[in-house]
Amino acid sequence: MVETIQWIDGAVVMIDQTRLPLEVRMATCRTYQEVAAAIKDMIIRGAPAIGVAAAMGVALGVAQAAEDDLDAQVETICRTLARTRPTAVNLFWAIDRMKALYGSLRGRPIAEIRRALIEEALRIREEDIAICRAIGRNGAPLVVEGKAVLTHCNAGALATAGYGTALGVIRAAVEAGKRIDVFADETRPFLQGARLTAWELEQDGIPITLITDNMAGHFMKSGRIGCVVVGADRIAANGDVANKIGTYSVAVLAKENNLPFYVAAPISTLDLKLASGDLIPIEERPAAEVTHLYGKRVAPEGIQVANPAFDVTPARYVTAIVTENGVARAPYEESLRKLVS
Ligand code: MRU
Repeated sequence: MVETIQWIDGAVVMIDQTRLPLEVRMATCRTYQEVAAAIKDMIIRGAPAIGVAAAMGVALGVAQAAEDDLDAQVETICRTLARTRPTAVNLFWAIDRMKALYGSLRGRPIAEIRRALIEEALRIREEDIAICRAIGRNGAPLVVEGKAVLTHCNAGALATAGYGTALGVIRAAVEAGKRIDVFADETRPFLQGARLTAWELEQDGIPITLITDNMAGHFMKSGRIGCVVVGADRIAANGDVANKIGTYSVAVLAKENNLPFYVAAPISTLDLKLASGDLIPIEERPAAEVTHLYGKRVAPEGIQVANPAFDVTPARYVTAIVTENGVARAPYEESLRKLVS
């Protein structure tokens, strides 16, 4: 199993996902500012993984903070980490959890506060792996044996502390003895499917066929796909799902081809304060991700570019949402609230 993110000797060590699959290189962050930069630059990415990174970033920041005016420093650390990426709610969930713990320890000796924050960040990491395994257990029965599962982006071990959400469902189905093939969309423009999902599943020996994003409809129509399983960055109270750009198109194609469209995500990805997906902030990423491939320009100089990193799939396209607490189906206003209570 790949170690996406670890705490080693007072530093945050992560697989540099911008280099995969050409090179497996670890990136070491020794300050909270370096953790924030690693999240922003997508050295680490995927909703649960950036939550774990942010928690470790808070712990690292406080470990290095001066003793006086600690409250103000914690504010600055949390604000810096929160400004990295706007869409995945797990980032804010993890920062809030660290902040709440800090609040409960205010006035205690600084050594105790530092230790407690490091322990909490490590706990969030461990819990994430256990949560992914539970998502896998809950989702595996939904996967049709003998057909391929189509996935988009990377919602695997690399996008979490380990095991994955969508890929966790696939892993659990394989572990349960099901014969499963995976079709992975390459996922333009950042190529998480081609670079990360393909690499990760190959490591596990799970059969994978890489396709470009515009091939998904063709393969669904051919009858080779049994279902779609994707991850999520934020899920609104009505079941609308923000996930990697292109997910919406895949969901519409799945409905057209009468294929189930499953979303696998931890409870920490639910944002029940938001009534619908229209309220989810969508990150706009640099134009160079679209105009360049591996540093080489593939579009005319000066061309206008749009690069939203995520889209919102309306709940009516979502067959079920698989979480560690169980599987929710429409009407999501009721079923999601039931899962968190
Ligand atoms: O921009 P990214 O690579 O962080 O986007 C990742 C996704 O959209 C994933 O599908 C999502 O975060 C779920 S990861 C378990």
